[in-house]
Amino acid sequence: MQRLFAIFLGWALLGSALGAALVPGKAFERFITIWLENQDYAKVAVDASIADLKRRGILLTRYYAHTHPSQPNYVAAVGGDYFGLNHDDFVRIPDNVATVADLLEAKSITWAGYFEDVPGPGYMGNHSDGSTGNGGWDYVRKHNPFVSYDSITMNGERLLNLLSFADFERAFAARAVPQFVFMTPNMMNDGHNTTLDFATAWSHKFLQPLLEDGAFDERTLIALTYDESETYSEPNHIVTLLLGSAIPPSLKGTQDDTFYTHYSILSTVEANWGLHNLGRYDVGANVFQFVADLAGYTENKDPENAATVNNSVSYPGMLNNDPAKLLPIPVPNTKLRGAGGLPVLPSIEIAWSGSLGSPTPYDGSGRVCDGDKNLPIYNSPGASLP
Ligand SMILES: *[C@@H]1O[C@H](CO)[C@@H](O)[C@H](O)[C@H]1NC(C)=O
Ligand SMILES: *[C@@H]1O[C@H](CO)[C@@H](O)[C@H](O)[C@H]1NC(C)=O
Ligand SMILES: *[C@@H]1O[C@H](CO)[C@@H](O)[C@H](O)[C@H]1NC(C)=O
Repeated sequence: MQRLFAIFLGWALLGSALGAALVPGKAFERFITIWLENQDYAKVAVDASIADLKRRGILLTRYYAHTHPSQPNYVAAVGGDYFGLNHDDFVRIPDNVATVADLLEAKSITWAGYFEDVPGPGYMGNHSDGSTGNGGWDYVRKHNPFVSYDSITMNGERLLNLLSFADFERAFAARAVPQFVFMTPNMMNDGHNTTLDFATAWSHKFLQPLLEDGAFDERTLIALTYDESETYSEPNHIVTLLLGSAIPPSLKGTQDDTFYTHYSILSTVEANWGLHNLGRYDVGANVFQFVADLAGYTENKDPENAATVNNSVSYPGMLNNDPAKLLPIPVPNTKLRGAGGLPVLPSIEIAWSGSLGSPTPYDGSGRVCDGDKNLPIYNSPGASLP
């Protein structure tokens, strides 16, 4: 009897060590996004390292960042809004604002952020010297989207998911990389303090082991992207490349001309895993087309105002540093159904229960907003729905 129990326990431990509980998705079981810095689409698209990677994946030809400078783009990608942010300084977002972490955890999907040269797990400082020997800040808070959200930093378990690249290497070797991963290389490797081809060569090298056959046990989608373009006077058009074992073989070396923004990261993981939504700009953002096809999501379309948006100017909001442009955090629209086919996450509805029904700019239409001719339009949530 005792021996039987020991065998059973052994199996159970083996099962958990192998990560038996991975939540299956419609197009992938793991999503990894890696963020580079400040380059225009036209220059990156013709870079030699990118050309080599393109053969192995799907080039997204109409992917746009939200605004300038860096920080709002990072913040937007995990929270579904950038709350008027127009600068790179220290910010904190109140803890009633949910992120992708809430959506993932509700379905027991593991996640982590890996930041090269962060000095330790859950580091909340503004910057840190790192490993390049360049004598400067290698890690910077403005390139870590999670650390500005109190809903992450005031939750010890979540804070401990903010880790280093060394932690990623260990998880990769142990075949234990979480299912949703956000990665920011240091200020040299992401191209911020170096050059376009320095960062693309670094990416090419870094990606090789992750793209090998059998690198991961489960279908893995890797989205290599840029936070924003370099030239503020031109549309904020950036290269994003989809790679990894989740890419259907027939689509390798192709391009996808659908309109995307960083909110498409949120809508894509929502569609893939059938997640709830944040009730913000995640709803209505186009889903990466091959994922949409596998998930049966048919709502992709061009935003009606895409041609007039100036995605170089931030709209007003709580994090804007112009006192004339301060506005409260908008109330999520709890009437929206997202790409996962579900309503807003129930915990969001509870957190905002005191103000539900207030006018909200989120209408699920996919309309893009700016601080110029396309300001967010506030409507009552009931009235704005199809
Ligand atoms: C981070 O920078 C802000 C100002 O931008 C400052 O108020 C704060 O004290 C800094 N934090 C640390 C830990 O140095
Ligand atoms: C990168 O440039 C910033 C200024 O933009 C500087 O503060 C930082 O120390 C530099 N980091 C490295 C590693 O060169
Ligand atoms: C968009 O805004 C940027 C930054 O203010 C400006 O340089 C650019 O000229 C604007 N573009 C258009 C088309 O208005």
